[in-house]
Amino acid sequence: MRVVILPTEQEASDFAADFIEKLIIEKENAVLGLATGSSVLLTYEALIKKYQSGEMSFKNITTFNLDEYIGLQPDHTQSYRHYMNRKLFNHIDIDHKKTYIPECFNKDYESSCESYESKVRENGGIDLQLLGIGTNGHIGFNEPTSSLSSRTRVKTLTQNTIKNNSRFFENNEVQPSIAITMGIGTIMEAQNIILIGLGKHKSKAVADLQNHRNAVVVLDNLAASNLKLYDYYIHTEKMYLEYMC
Ligand code: GLP
Repeated sequence: MRVVILPTEQEASDFAADFIEKLIIEKENAVLGLATGSSVLLTYEALIKKYQSGEMSFKNITTFNLDEYIGLQPDHTQSYRHYMNRKLFNHIDIDHKKTYIPECFNKDYESSCESYESKVRENGGIDLQLLGIGTNGHIGFNEPTSSLSSRTRVKTLTQNTIKNNSRFFENNEVQPSIAITMGIGTIMEAQNIILIGLGKHKSKAVADLQNHRNAVVVLDNLAASNLKLYDYYIHTEKMYLEYMC
């Protein structure tokens, strides 16, 4: 696992955006796994800038989002579909028909989950999965105790996650407590993973991370501040840049 520690949130996010751009240059019809939340926002802004300056196109890209709240219609302002349109898809040249988010608006959740998995497979699997991490270590909505071989399914959120995400909801808005999320097993099948951790409140969660064969974890200094091997990671990245690039 490559751990990249950069001084600021902006630099960490620019690194992630460059990483995604590199992949799309190599494979213009790449399949991206995308995340919501605050950790990925600056990365999305950087990608939009790259598109606007003509550096890259998303024309042939397919995307699969990690998760969606059960109970929110896609046009609900707190749905992840709405988030993705607002924060990324409406600002780039992606074909909206090729942007997938788990469908939570018909009651047959089991078949929604199965068809999501099949769609990922039909598209050849995920080339690069972008991840944030919850303060309790959750990825997507895979709360602690999720099986490492779990697939896309309905998951009940922990009080900790509900509380953390309540900042996005108005006082009078109903906040869902269940969601559909890709499983850890689904995520682990991605060819590459890039996880973004920003801020001191993430430092405990990132210190507990596990491995994937091609995972890059990009952190700002604050999120890295609990890492026992901080100095080693800084040194290793220097060596990586010197010998591997
Ligand atoms: C949310 C999302 C996750 C996200 C995580 C971190 O609940 N379901 O996909 O990675 O929590 O969110 P944030 O980046 O806002 O801290």
